[in-house]
Amino acid sequence: MEEAMSAPVAIVTGSAKGIGLSTARELASRGYQVVVSDLDASAAEVAAKEIDGAIAVPCDVRDEDQVRALVAATTDHHGRLDLMVPNAGIGIVAPILDTDLAQWREVTSVNLDGVFLSLRWAAPAIIASGGGSIVSIASVSGTTGTPLIASYAAAKAAVINLTKTAAMELRDHGVRVNAVAPGFIGTDLVNDAAPEFERLLGLPEGGFGPVIEAKQGRFGDPEDVARAVAFLADAQQSWVTGSILTLDGGITSSLI
Ligand SMILES: NC(=O)c1ccc[n+]([C@@H]2O[C@H](COP(=O)([O-])OP(=O)(O)OC[C@H]3O[C@@H](n4cnc5c(N)ncnc54)[C@H](O)[C@@H]3O)[C@@H](O)[C@H]2O)c1
Repeated sequence: MEEAMSAPVAIVTGSAKGIGLSTARELASRGYQVVVSDLDASAAEVAAKEIDGAIAVPCDVRDEDQVRALVAATTDHHGRLDLMVPNAGIGIVAPILDTDLAQWREVTSVNLDGVFLSLRWAAPAIIASGGGSIVSIASVSGTTGTPLIASYAAAKAAVINLTKTAAMELRDHGVRVNAVAPGFIGTDLVNDAAPEFERLLGLPEGGFGPVIEAKQGRFGDPEDVARAVAFLADAQQSWVTGSILTLDGGITSSLI
């Protein structure tokens, strides 16, 4: 008799809220056993409790020991790892000439180092499980210049290149590596940044949202991103690797 295949296992970093939480929910609805991981340990616990079959494992993705421990806790608990979603991210709104090195490093340590570490330590566990995939959350900011968020945009551009390079290095080990590049999504990341964008762009209070809505049609929902992650992770997409799936309501498709 054939051995029954156990449910696939996924880690989503930064999944206590926002896009990560929606992705954790979407993956669980598709039969994954999800590890909800976040810097905010108590929020991760709360989030995991409401997702079928999920467990919470706290992790600061800037810290290599914590990322290694996250992967080890997952394989200890579930015996395998099929999917890593490096999602944790932060942003600082500041013109380049007002950005100091500490701020630059604060953003790139989460948004780039954190993705590198997540990929670096998940890949061996995925290979040991017989193959799977990694789907990072990049951004349209990584494909086009984005004034006032240089550190964020540069980190996302690097994530896009890391995705393509890792795709080639890991293909023959059975690990597909892809990323999504969303436009503006209505999460705390954007809502908290809006007043500073408004101040620096000379927009009235509450003026940032309509500008983005005009360019994108609407704000994206976290669920839009979650479905795109699930699409790329699906084993049926076995030839899709090194791809960057843009979902942005067209904001990067037009000059006017
Ligand atoms: N919101 C958008 O418009 C948008 C667009 C494109 C890409 N993204 C990307 O999507 C990802 C999720 O963003 P979001 O909008 O859901 O943000 P969010 O602020 O709603 O959630 C981010 C989560 O990451 C966690 N986190 C922060 N630093 C961490 C660290 N060092 N280690 C572990 N967890 C940490 C936070 O605690 C939080 O739970 C980020 O990578 C972001 O850059 C967002």
